[in-house]
Formats: sequence, structure tokens, C-alpha cells
Amino acid sequence: MRAVDLIAAKREGRELTAEEISWLVSGFTSGDIPDYQVSAWLMAVVLRGMTATETAGLTRAMVASGCHLDLSSVGPFVGDKHSTGGVGDKTTLVVGPLVAAAGVPVGKMSGRGLGFTGGTIDKLESINGFRTQLSPEDFIQAIKRVGLVVASQTPDLAPADGRLYALRDVTATVESIPLIASSIMSKKVAAGANGVVLDVKVGHGAFMKTMDDARRLAEAMRDIGQSVGLQVRAILSGMDEPLGWAVGNALEVEEAVLTLKGDGPPDLVEVAFTLGANLLDMAGNVPSVEEGMVVMRETLESGKGLEKFRQFVENQGGDPAFIDDLSLLPHAPVQRTLTSGKAGYLAAVDAEVIGRASVEIGAGRVVKGAAIDHAVGFVLRKKVGDRVEVGDLLVTLHASTQEGADNVASSLEGAFQLSEAPVELSAAVLEVVV
Ligand code: URA
Repeated sequence: MRAVDLIAAKREGRELTAEEISWLVSGFTSGDIPDYQVSAWLMAVVLRGMTATETAGLTRAMVASGCHLDLSSVGPFVGDKHSTGGVGDKTTLVVGPLVAAAGVPVGKMSGRGLGFTGGTIDKLESINGFRTQLSPEDFIQAIKRVGLVVASQTPDLAPADGRLYALRDVTATVESIPLIASSIMSKKVAAGANGVVLDVKVGHGAFMKTMDDARRLAEAMRDIGQSVGLQVRAILSGMDEPLGWAVGNALEVEEAVLTLKGDGPPDLVEVAFTLGANLLDMAGNVPSVEEGMVVMRETLESGKGLEKFRQFVENQGGDPAFIDDLSLLPHAPVQRTLTSGKAGYLAAVDAEVIGRASVEIGAGRVVKGAAIDHAVGFVLRKKVGDRVEVGDLLVTLHASTQEGADNVASSLEGAFQLSEAPVELSAAVLEVVV
């Protein structure tokens, strides 16, 4: 085989065979096929697309480039959850403990925040002592002991994806549904779970800006799952405004704890219950998703989810004292409030603007590996649809310095849009793709 022929074939829109794709991926991973040829091939994929069979073949080739975690010793079903990334998305910290407390083990590998969206690993590292780097043996032991583990993505899972993603990032080839779907699913398949719920975010603060694109991505990932024997369900959830009230690492951990104590924002609860109910249903733990919703609520109200969160934190070396005394989480020295100069109904809180401001204040990073400040961020005081009077509090800024707060105040103000007429609210969960 010659790389140039596969590039030309894709340029002409011919469907490549699984063998051809596998040859290309393994040649790239071993260094035998140079970046420039793979870049040309990626651009042809962006322009021509891939069939479902090709997308599945690419996923399998990327899985085969590294280790595959074997979770079969844990039991018949281990669940996983993945979000395509959003602002204020602390859902894992709520879904994981509730599903595990309801009896379905959850083993999840997560990433750090990059760009204006946050990452679960950064949030967990706000907890004193919490370990996110676990060996495969520790990962499996943690699921067996507690029923829940969340650890950093290890580089030996689907390493071809890591290399391809780095190349896509600098060759304008990230924006392709088959490439995104296979990239996400290769890591999910390699991480060894039996069923995964996907939270595909759609809106200003998400990768996918339209329902059509989000649906196509969800369907592509579901089809990959089917072809490799991994159960997949996807929900499409709104990301025009941030999820919940809090944006920023420790602030989001605090909100997750409040949610597990029964005092969570309705949009976060809706997304978490829907994802969790689908996992319980896939595991065969409940007879229907509706019944799963009931179990999720009961598990939250009984305090079992909070108890599971405590065990999870302790098991990964974290000091659980903050769960009873939230002041023990990192707190920023400067707090500033923004109030409204107008009256009306809150029509929009632009998640992308808020996400970018959170990076500027130090909660996120623009360059891989940069340090972040776990304490800083924002707490929204109004959500879309709320009535706002002149002087009402819109958001509290948590900053490390007065200057840091000054720098983001005006861009943050621009995120809030008022309307004179009442605003129609849409549900947080927009669609379920089964
Ligand atoms: N997240 C991934 O893991 N891969 C992509 O291609 C895009 C988002």
C-alpha cells in the first residue's frame, strides 16, 4: 500500500477498507508515514467525510494502537459517561456517585479543561489530596471497592488518537464529525466499560453549535458503539448558558456537593438524572428510563449519593472534611458582585463569553500544561428566564486579585442580555438519541 494512493482515494470520495485505514493509522503511529501525508489525508476526510463503516474502522485502528482496559473482573456491567465539553459542566460529580450508589459501577477516565470549557480532572484536583493519576490496577481496584472511580486519561489508551489530535489541532482538521466521533469513541472503547452515556452539548458554549450537527455527532458515536459491541446512549443538552450556577473548579465541586445534598440547580439536576437513568436502564438495573429517573431521585433524597461521593473522595486520597464544611475548599481572596443597571427578563447568559472570562481570571488554560487557580471563577445569581430588577445581583466574581476582577468585569457584563418580554424557557435536555 502507498499513503499517496489512500490520500487520492479519499480525495475522490472512495470508501477506504478497514485494512487500508488500519495500515495508515499504524504507519503514522510507528513514524513510517510522515505527518504531511496524514495531514493531507485528514483534510480529505474533512472535505469528503467518512462512511459509518470507515468511521468504525478508524475507531478500531486507534483502539488497537494502545492498551485496552479489561474490566470484566468487576462484574457484568461497568458504566461510563462522557461530555463533549461545556461551561459549568460538573455533571460527572453528580451522576457518578448517584449511579454507583444505585448499584451500577462507574469507571471513568476524564480530561483537563482546555480552551473555554472545563475538565473534571481540574475540578477534582481542587480537593485536598485527591489523586487523579491511577495505574490500571488501582483503577480496577477502586471500582471494586467503591463502585466509582474517576482518573486522568492515560497516554497508553488509544495513543494514535493523541497523535492524530495534535496534528488535527494545527492543520484545521478538528471540525469533522467522523473524526471527532472516532476520537472520542476510541478512548471510550479502550477504557473498557460496557455502556456509555454521552452528553452532547449544543449551543454557544459548545463544540456543536446547532442541533443538526449535535444529532449527527451523537448518531455517529452511537453507530460506532454498535459496531464494536459497546452500548451507547446519547443526550443532547443545551449549552447556550452555563450549566448550573457555578463556573470554576472549587466552586463547581461545591455546587456538586450542594446538589448531592438536595440543593442543586434544576438544569444540572435534570441533565444528571437523565444521564444516570439511562445508565441504570442500560445496566438492566431498572425496567425503564422512567423508573431510572425515580431511582436517581430516591438515591439523591436518601443521602446515599452524598455518602458514595464521600467514599469516592476518600478512596482516591482526598480529605472528605470539605463535604461537611465547604469553607475548607480553596477560596479566592477577592469577591466582587455585578448588578444589573436595567430591569427586564434575562434572555441570554452567553456561555462562551463566561467560559472565556473564566480562563482570563485563571480558572482555565489556553496552553496545555499551564497552571490554574482552583479557587477562582463565577457564581451566577440569575439564570435565563428570571425576572431582573435594577440593582439585582447578576453574578459574583471570585478572583485572586482586585486587578483580576477588574479585567474580566466588563466582558462578563456583556454576557447578560435582558429582554422586556418574558422569555420562553427550553428544557436542559433537548433530545435523547437511542
Ligand atoms: N474531543 C475529543 O476527544 N476528540 C475530538 O476530536 C474532539 C473533542
